[in-house]
Amino acid sequence: MTKKSRVAAAVLAASTLLTIGVQPARAENTSGTPAAGHGGHAGVPLRRVTPRDLKIGTAVAGGGHHLEQDYPDPFTYDKPYRRVLAGEFNSASPENQMKWEFIHPERNRYNFGPADAIVRFARRHGQVVRGHTLLWHSQNPAWLAEGQFSKAELRAILKQHIFTVVGRYRGQIHQWDVANEIFDGNGAYRQENIWIRELGPGIVADAFRWAHQADPRAQLFLNDYGVEWPGAKVDAYEALAEQLLADRVPLHGFASQAHLSMRYGAPDQLRAVLQRFDDLGLYTAITELDVRMDLPESGVPTAEQLTTQAQYYKTVLDACLAVDDCNSFTLWGFTDKYSWVPVFFPTEGAATVMWDDFTRKPAYETLQQTLAEARG
Ligand code: G3I
Repeated sequence: MTKKSRVAAAVLAASTLLTIGVQPARAENTSGTPAAGHGGHAGVPLRRVTPRDLKIGTAVAGGGHHLEQDYPDPFTYDKPYRRVLAGEFNSASPENQMKWEFIHPERNRYNFGPADAIVRFARRHGQVVRGHTLLWHSQNPAWLAEGQFSKAELRAILKQHIFTVVGRYRGQIHQWDVANEIFDGNGAYRQENIWIRELGPGIVADAFRWAHQADPRAQLFLNDYGVEWPGAKVDAYEALAEQLLADRVPLHGFASQAHLSMRYGAPDQLRAVLQRFDDLGLYTAITELDVRMDLPESGVPTAEQLTTQAQYYKTVLDACLAVDDCNSFTLWGFTDKYSWVPVFFPTEGAATVMWDDFTRKPAYETLQQTLAEARG
């Protein structure tokens, strides 16, 4: 689909949403089959209505906060979860399974099993994989965070990690989040990032160069939250992207995670932000979308909250559809059953597009309809 028709379709879908509203109440059925939807797309999985030049993805639940919960590893053991994962999406992002603490738990030991399983699953189900992540301040193993290493040793450790992990999945990863959350809200390099603090910001370019050498076909991304509106952080990323491109560093994309809260309003300037990076010749992507809300005492969102949430999801999707090379749209999980949100924000929740039993919320229906309209 051309950019023009995508925009036209997005406008059409927006007006449809306003005209018909969204289904406000929680669906009664528990079969996973939606109630009759709008526009004749009921029951058609998201991946089947997504424009061909866009990937529709989700995080694959495991590791991280899941380890503290009283359920077994979701991706490995929850069969209905796996069925929805395979049926609805054509892109998969390991939620935690490729992070340093998980995949490289000891200096001389890698733990590839869970990541391998996701890559195999993705291949079997015709999905691409987004690799997450190589250079980050968080979820680093104790041996690294608390180790006493010289600068030369640290540099060698990062280089070896990137060649080992990226090299293992060479040819099987669509996009890598090479550098994750490297700037703070003021656009300054985060000093809690061990690599940047110890080796200086120039290490970011090296990480991209090494990742490209290890897998020349993977698209290499900068990825962050809090970049959904213009501001100091977006300015910092734009300046960095320009510099990296001028230096011929293999940077291919800029991604907005899009962890949204209904406390702060819908990201109505996201399209303009993405366009700035598209104008530099980069791909753009939405990589971790969820929309959390303050839950009433009952714990069940109101119909009005669900309608607002659907509009937030739609705002983000419309932004991506309107930008030429926004080529990947990923949800940070598709069911509240496994969402990270209530673990981090105890009074908030219901952030995903499906209830615990995989029945669909208005946000799901709105994404489905908007995608279908855009595909034409
Ligand atoms: O490591 C500590 C451990 O020492 C401590 O005993 C334990 C007690 O609660 O917590 C452990 O930390 C957990 C961490 O994963 C380690 O794996 C946190 O509680 C847990 O909440 C955390 O969750 C993950 C989080 O990243 C960590 O930042 C989530 O599963 C994961 O969904 C989330 O994903 C991130 C993306 O990667 C980047 N963008 C933001 C997004 C949401 O935070």
